[in-house]
Amino acid sequence: MIVLIVAMDRNNLIGSQTGHFGMPWHNKEDLQHFRKTTLNHAILMGSTTFAAMKRPLKDRRNMVLTSKEIDIPGVEVIHDLGAIVDQYRNSIDTLYVCGGASVYCQTMDFADKILVSRIPGDYQGETHFPEIDLEKFVLESTTDFETFKLETYVRLK
Ligand SMILES: NC(=O)c1ccc[n+]([C@@H]2O[C@H](COP(=O)([O-])OP(=O)(O)OC[C@H]3O[C@@H](n4cnc5c(N)ncnc54)[C@H](OP(=O)(O)O)[C@@H]3O)[C@@H](O)[C@H]2O)c1
Repeated sequence: MIVLIVAMDRNNLIGSQTGHFGMPWHNKEDLQHFRKTTLNHAILMGSTTFAAMKRPLKDRRNMVLTSKEIDIPGVEVIHDLGAIVDQYRNSIDTLYVCGGASVYCQTMDFADKILVSRIPGDYQGETHFPEIDLEKFVLESTTDFETFKLETYVRLK
């Protein structure tokens, strides 16, 4: 199963070069939700997102997509996105795609589910989430957290 997990403001903004770890906001509750959801699963991110994060996340299979030959302890360097998508597409194991925008764009067609933390407000930044095609995904549920709303989109059968 492939799940995209993302936090965005009401304008689909997800990233800011000058923000805290590349994020336009600092939302502790959302980071806890992200941790709880992805713990003990595989996570995949682009090299720009990893550079902003600085280090691999504990107790997860950390995969970083790049065209470069790099060696980072605790990280599996991925050159072939298609192979990872094929591995998880029809698997009971879940791959959480953690961004950034370029990786979300390339994996949205294969996603079974999209978890959106909707951060209230308008923030400054330059990176946006691609539009969710509502002919392909339906908003299955919304869950209120104290500081954001979790929207769960599932692929229409
Ligand atoms: N709000 C959120 O939930 C959230 C989540 C994640 C990220 N973000 C933000 O999003 C921004 C980054 O997004 P981004 O789109 O600029 O960058 P990104 O997707 O994180 O990384 C892009 C890089 O990934 C590598 N890459 C992408 N597709 C590839 C492929 N098919 N094969 C090989 N390598 C591939 C390339 O690295 P090389 O150049 O090394 O080859 C590319 O330059 C940051 O501001 C980050 O903080 C926000």
